[in-house]
Amino acid sequence: MSKDTLTIKDNRTGKDYEVPIWEDTINAMDLRQIKVNPDDFGMMSYDPAFKNTANTKSTITLVDGDNGVLQYRGYPISDLAENTDFLETAYLIFNGELPDADSLAAWRSEISGMMALPDAIPAIMNAFPKDAHPMGAFVSTAAALGTLNPDASNVLDMDTRWHHMKNLTAKAAGLGAYFYRHTQDKDFVAPDPKLSYAGNFLRMMYHDGSGDYTPDPALERALNVLFILHADHEQNCGTTTMRTIGSSQVDPYSAVAGAAAALYGPLHGGANEAVLRMLDQIGDVSKIPAFMDSVRKGEQRLMGFGHRVYKNYDPRAKIIKSVADDVFKVTGRNPKLDIAMELEKIALNEDYFIERKLYPNVDFYSGIIYQALGIPTKMFTVMFAIPRTVGWLAQWSEMLDDSEQKIARPRQVYLGALDREFVPIEKR
Ligand code: ACO
Repeated sequence: MSKDTLTIKDNRTGKDYEVPIWEDTINAMDLRQIKVNPDDFGMMSYDPAFKNTANTKSTITLVDGDNGVLQYRGYPISDLAENTDFLETAYLIFNGELPDADSLAAWRSEISGMMALPDAIPAIMNAFPKDAHPMGAFVSTAAALGTLNPDASNVLDMDTRWHHMKNLTAKAAGLGAYFYRHTQDKDFVAPDPKLSYAGNFLRMMYHDGSGDYTPDPALERALNVLFILHADHEQNCGTTTMRTIGSSQVDPYSAVAGAAAALYGPLHGGANEAVLRMLDQIGDVSKIPAFMDSVRKGEQRLMGFGHRVYKNYDPRAKIIKSVADDVFKVTGRNPKLDIAMELEKIALNEDYFIERKLYPNVDFYSGIIYQALGIPTKMFTVMFAIPRTVGWLAQWSEMLDDSEQKIARPRQVYLGALDREFVPIEKR
């Protein structure tokens, strides 16, 4: 008779252990009973980089990497990208359900009303060197915002927590846009509560300050789609960082700063910037064969390709490709698109990439669109951090409500020296 258990035989002792299977997983703590001697610590699982470890249960986002599926709260990403705007998707991610018309109107007006940054933030922005990396500014000002909201450390109070989740969601756009204004020597522009979240981001970036600002609808829509696609992606490096930092019950501003720092790295959210540098380095379609040779030799990576979880076409990359066409109708075609499309064509047909299941990820085309929107390359990771703030906060709140979670504290396998005799400095 079949049973939802796993029998483990320890060949050191000959003992059998039966541990429960739940959702195709076993609980790592069930291994602890496996000992050679009663005084032993017990068996652990060893999993550097969490390649096969579920750190949490979650009901927010499903990524089925083998089949190229991404869903927020059970809704396919393509439906959300086609039919909602960023704030509607954010509402879904936070609340688990799509809003009705009244709730959506109230949500939009509440977030729009919270987008303006307190005076201290532009003052801090002005202190950064103009050539500083915008992600350094985003990380710092997200944490600085926390110093202006000391009650946010009351993370177990639901009303306080929810208020700061909304505040961070609303203000993330300004943290990105205001640093850009600073680099351009331009005065900061307040958000307009009548505009959408994406529209306000464009306003805070580009408005010359006189009269009303009306974003181009195609560009506003493209930005909405990009924000939706980046809003959450389950337990990636940044989100795991958010949960880990948040598990100490620190305030969400500090945790978002930490998650953003994780995202900054070139193997994570920094990849879209790296894609653009790569396309610039290639420069022309005629140089692609030499570039691909060096990738095949392992001398460099094809940035924007490959993913720890997707071993199929990243569904976000497909949607972004179609958005690119709408953007280029307004802005004119970016010649880098031709290089990118040729790289993709070659890679999808070559053994090196097929054998390793390397497909374009979300970052392969996003940078080209951001560039067409006038966003400087150095800001691309900020464009990821702004919408991902929603995912970080939703995952963080879920973690705080999960009675099985405690402060994150992995184990190690210690392989270092033991019981050495101390040598006084004059004898070393
Ligand atoms: N170009 C060329 N070869 C690659 C690439 C790539 N982009 N990605 C992986 N490989 C090769 C590796 O060299 C390795 O080959 P080997 O088996 O011969 O040694 C094999 O594929 C497996 O690679 P790993 O690094 O072990 O795969 P991992 O799952 O750890 O890495 C990662 C995933 C970091 C995304 C990787 O594919 C990569 O560096 N891609 C480029 C950077 C990038 O686009 N990052 C964005 C990810 S999406 C995101 O964070 C939003």
